[in-house]
Amino acid sequence: MGKGLEGWSVRHLLIVSVALNVWLVLKVSNYDKDTNFTTEKIFNGFCAHEEFHKQVPLSSSSSSSSSMAAAAVGEKKSVHDEADDGRIINFDHGDPTIYEKYWQEAGDKTSVFISGWQSMSYFSDVKNLCWFLEPEFGKEVIRLHNIVGNAATDDRHIVVGTGSTQLFQAALYALSATGGTEPISVVSSTPYYSFYRQVVEYMKSGLYKWVGDASTFDKDEPYIELITSPNNPDGLMRQPVVNRSGGMLIHDFAYYWPQYTPITSAADHDIMLFTVSKTTGHAGMRIGWALVKDEAVAKRMTKFIELNSIGVSKDSQIRAAKILQTVSDSREHAGDSKDFFETSYHHIERRWKQLREVVGKTGIFSTPEFPPAFCNYMSRLFSTQPAFAWLKCEGEIENCEDFLRSHKILTRSGKHFGMSPKYVRISMLDRDSNYDLFIKRLSEMRT
Ligand SMILES: Cc1ncc(COP(=O)(O)O)c(C=O)c1O
Repeated sequence: MGKGLEGWSVRHLLIVSVALNVWLVLKVSNYDKDTNFTTEKIFNGFCAHEEFHKQVPLSSSSSSSSSMAAAAVGEKKSVHDEADDGRIINFDHGDPTIYEKYWQEAGDKTSVFISGWQSMSYFSDVKNLCWFLEPEFGKEVIRLHNIVGNAATDDRHIVVGTGSTQLFQAALYALSATGGTEPISVVSSTPYYSFYRQVVEYMKSGLYKWVGDASTFDKDEPYIELITSPNNPDGLMRQPVVNRSGGMLIHDFAYYWPQYTPITSAADHDIMLFTVSKTTGHAGMRIGWALVKDEAVAKRMTKFIELNSIGVSKDSQIRAAKILQTVSDSREHAGDSKDFFETSYHHIERRWKQLREVVGKTGIFSTPEFPPAFCNYMSRLFSTQPAFAWLKCEGEIENCEDFLRSHKILTRSGKHFGMSPKYVRISMLDRDSNYDLFIKRLSEMRT
């Protein structure tokens, strides 16, 4: 009897345990649906405007984590195959996730291994003016510029920064720290990169102040002009516009790379800023570099970074060196892997073709046209295909950001760039799954 009862209990326990396991598996696989927060939704909603959530409730439909994985590897589907699950498309920021696919395919050769005892010291190269610059990173920066031909590197100081955002501030400090008692005017012609204004106004520095549109600046006093070429947000090639004595220039060349624009000559200016964020898509590494002609300016930039963050992550520089090396190798040892810039160029080219087609069909928007030029790197003629689309809502629509938001597409209004709200800036560098859905929504829009 005791034995029978014992046998019965074991059987029951087994049944209960199997049932519990089945329930748990079902529960876990439905977790996204229950909570209404899919991984993709959280990720794609990164930095979404708060007002958006007030106005448009998050969709209750969910996309599975397998679609996230498919998106991450850039699985190719036709735009019209893309099911619209009602999710928010956040094209407000310029997160360069388009490049994930290339780097996934590149595989382990881009991996770096850093042991616990490595890169511990504050110092990298005490003999260098920029004492926290990792020599390997500096070497790969010069190699890449020489291969691409987009910047003069001879007799330049390399200053590494935590993204070019830190370098831009270091440059402002370096150029204004020796000035007079009044803050120096900082200008950039509209539409200008919105972050410049935000950073300068937020910092409230006593050394410099935001004045705004360079094309209306007429004061006879020292100034700093920021030139972004190709420009963010409109993609146009830019030259200085004030051209007066006492002017100091900072050239932001975040997008002067052959996947975005023809490389017509090696840029040769006093301060040139670059960033891995837009060159290779590694925004999360937070690595940028400046090529600086004047030693005293480079020293003051270095001092700023020393006081601001006591240098720049060595781990990130080591990883960035590996990434830049892989990009250069992909050109010089063709056959081992696909040329990074060629591959990226074609990816972005396809997107611009889709966008222009749909913009032409709906008649709701317009986009700028770019003149073709011969690219020395690609050895062919092409037109700029910027990292952002500068879209104008035509006709009655006065607020393009609101109009697109009503279709669950987040963009950045023209007003942040010193322009009218009829314009918006849209990132062209998001993942395929989001971009395809964006094109699908655009093609179905009616005013
Ligand atoms: C023109 C320009 N400069 C600088 C940056 C920021 O670069 P980083 O990520 O290196 O700080 C951006 C980012 O969008 C940009 O568009």
